[in-house]
Amino acid sequence: MKITVVEDSKNVNCDVLIINKFEDKETSNQLVNEFAPETFTGKAGEIFTIHTHNKYPSTYILAVGLGKEEELDNNIIRENTAKAIKKCIELKAKTVAFDITTDQMFGMSIISGSFIANYNFDKYKTKKEHRIEELYLSNVSQHIEHAKHIAEAVEFARDLANEPAQYATPQRLAELALSFDGLDTRVFEKEQIKKMGMGAFYAVSKGSEEPPKFIHMRYSSPTPLKRIAIIGKGICFDSGGLDIKPASSMLTMKDDMSGAACILGIMKVLSKFKPDIEVHGIIAACENMPGAEAYKPGDILTAKNGKTIEVDNTDAEGRLTLADALCYACDLEVDEIIDIATLTGACMVALGNAASGIMGNDSEFINQIIKMGSLCGEKFWELPMWQEYRDNMKSDVADMKNTGTRYGGASSAGMFLKEFVKDDIKWAHLDVAGTAFLESPHKEFGKGATGVGVRTILNYILCH
Ligand code: BES
Ligand code: MG
Ligand code: ZN
Repeated sequence: MKITVVEDSKNVNCDVLIINKFEDKETSNQLVNEFAPETFTGKAGEIFTIHTHNKYPSTYILAVGLGKEEELDNNIIRENTAKAIKKCIELKAKTVAFDITTDQMFGMSIISGSFIANYNFDKYKTKKEHRIEELYLSNVSQHIEHAKHIAEAVEFARDLANEPAQYATPQRLAELALSFDGLDTRVFEKEQIKKMGMGAFYAVSKGSEEPPKFIHMRYSSPTPLKRIAIIGKGICFDSGGLDIKPASSMLTMKDDMSGAACILGIMKVLSKFKPDIEVHGIIAACENMPGAEAYKPGDILTAKNGKTIEVDNTDAEGRLTLADALCYACDLEVDEIIDIATLTGACMVALGNAASGIMGNDSEFINQIIKMGSLCGEKFWELPMWQEYRDNMKSDVADMKNTGTRYGGASSAGMFLKEFVKDDIKWAHLDVAGTAFLESPHKEFGKGATGVGVRTILNYILCH
């Protein structure tokens, strides 16, 4: 979608002009004020559309309710912009102009909402879905370019997570990482992964014909103020391995690299912002398959930091791959680590698709991330990291097992990961199992991948 900033969006010849309606207040447009029914009061989410019959430069005027003006915030703008854009798509509009008259600048959220709503994964359909092609804005601040890059990163992450596992292979992720501008990128192959001591990650990869790739992308300014590592779970397909999943649970498991897709989306655009820090994007990419060489329940693995793990369930594979990625990040002696993973069905059971789980070792760090998320509509809810969850992973034969009891699974997984993080490094773990991939539309998102985490982590990087 092309974005054009104009002096006055009201005068653009376009298919739809979107204006705002506040509760109990007239709009800026006479046609709407005159012809809208009484039931159109301006409550957030209400929409009234009218054909202008050449009385105005646009074919339609769409008034969208934004609630009470004093309660307006980025989330209300973004969600209702998305709603208006979906209506424009129904009207088969190609060009849309926004004339949102408020005291504040909301260009960022308008762009975010528009891009999210205009997204469609129709790459493999011979007949493409209708899309808005051009957006006109006025009265916006200078952050438009930034907003566009962020929206592109989200789209990239959604496309990649929606891509079938047959194409989005570890090899493909590595190729994409190597294609990004402004980064130093290294990809470690199977033999190097083994040699570097990543016994947990290597074991998970063994059941698949697709070779594993350990991807390390590095961005840096000349004199970085701090160093941060961002890690994405990159299971390109999770069959469960020998502890194979039932068909219904396996159906969406191409999305088990949504964390990796998020990190790739961020790293793709990062150099355009030129932040004054060093960022390491890390992905341990492989498939979890039950091939002849597959790792087995009862196997004892040694992670990169020397700790041993008894495999209790081959379907708890994400934490094994992340264990080695976390060790690798700690060896880089970064100041902070954020990992993002579709890690546990338990997190999905606990929070549904309303929020992602967040855990870590530093509450201030966690709260900063929660705050960044709340500004862009990505909710995070902190889950406990108590000793009880670690106790139930005790093993008779190794330092720990890779699963706990049936209950409290998201916290067990968090406590497992903690074993691979050095105490003096701030660390946050985002469990996006319930939010990365939607089985039915939710808020501004349609079915499928949401690109969750891209906006939160990118904003965190840019603001701290
Ligand atoms: N990739 C899954 C978690 C998941 C479930 C993501 C649903 C998205 C939607 C993960 O690898 C997994 O299989 N976890 C197991 C862990 C269990 C064996 C301890 C789970 O949650 O059932
Ligand atoms: Mg699994
Ligand atoms: Zn998984």
